[in-house]
Amino acid sequence: MSASLTGTVALVTGASSGIGEASAAAFAAEGAAVALVARRRDRLDDLAARIGGAGGTALVIETDVTKENDAREAVRRTVSELGRLDILLNNAGVMLLGRIEGADTSQWRRMLDLNVTALMTLTHAALPHLLEAAAGEPRGVADIVNVSSVAGRVARVGSGAYNASKWAVNAFSDALRQEVTGRHVRVGLVEPGAVDTELASHNTDPEVVATMQRRFGAIERMSAGDIAEIVTFMVTRPRRVALNELLVRPTEQVD
Ligand SMILES: NC(=O)c1ccc[n+]([C@@H]2O[C@H](COP(=O)([O-])OP(=O)(O)OC[C@H]3O[C@@H](n4cnc5c(N)ncnc54)[C@H](OP(=O)(O)O)[C@@H]3O)[C@@H](O)[C@H]2O)c1
Repeated sequence: MSASLTGTVALVTGASSGIGEASAAAFAAEGAAVALVARRRDRLDDLAARIGGAGGTALVIETDVTKENDAREAVRRTVSELGRLDILLNNAGVMLLGRIEGADTSQWRRMLDLNVTALMTLTHAALPHLLEAAAGEPRGVADIVNVSSVAGRVARVGSGAYNASKWAVNAFSDALRQEVTGRHVRVGLVEPGAVDTELASHNTDPEVVATMQRRFGAIERMSAGDIAEIVTFMVTRPRRVALNELLVRPTEQVD
């Protein structure tokens, strides 16, 4: 990495598993103090112990980010206990797949509440602190990275509501980017294809499971660490470089 994160503070949502866990560890290895946000406290405590054992600083914040006041409180605690906020990684998400016809619409609400509304709320709460960090030492720049998906670029039968949630993330991100980039808050999107995490495990519908098996069963998926490396690359660019959007698929994933 060409730039260190020493002296910075990052808030990572969904830090209890997968991409969020790997990214929080990667930020800490680059010198950032990290606020670890998710619901499963035991997982966050384990990660915090690993980060602390390696000489880093981690703050565990057990929070359901779909509760607006709790999401705002996570940002407030990060700033009051770690001193500032330079990087927001909006990563927490669910992927509940299935056809639109006959869908259980409570799953749509669950997905939109987390993938879209919580991301927007956290961004809103974090923005004043990010603007302040961008205006001063040590980097003169701050970062929001929103974890979208190939599903934010390619719509498919059986993925309509998830597609809608990630399309929303992409639109919100680029509108925000235009609003704040002149003040050195970079807004970046990372759009992964298949990553080997717990994400798909929430799907039990046999048609969905069979489709996922057909599409991804035989391919070598990316690891959470692969995405963490990319996110870390994004937030460690020189102040003058903003990586706006990064679409990344496993080599064997065709579409
Ligand atoms: N894996 C893939 O193939 C893939 C591909 C493209 C995009 N993505 C995106 O990558 C992001 C991370 O997914 P992942 O693959 O790393 O999946 P994951 O291992 O299932 O991680 C999801 C994280 O979100 C957290 N979370 C869920 N509900 C939450 C809530 N209400 N409040 C706070 N945290 C919550 C979970 O923690 P708790 O359960 O402890 O709260 C967990 O840490 C998601 O936005 C996903 O859409 C993944």
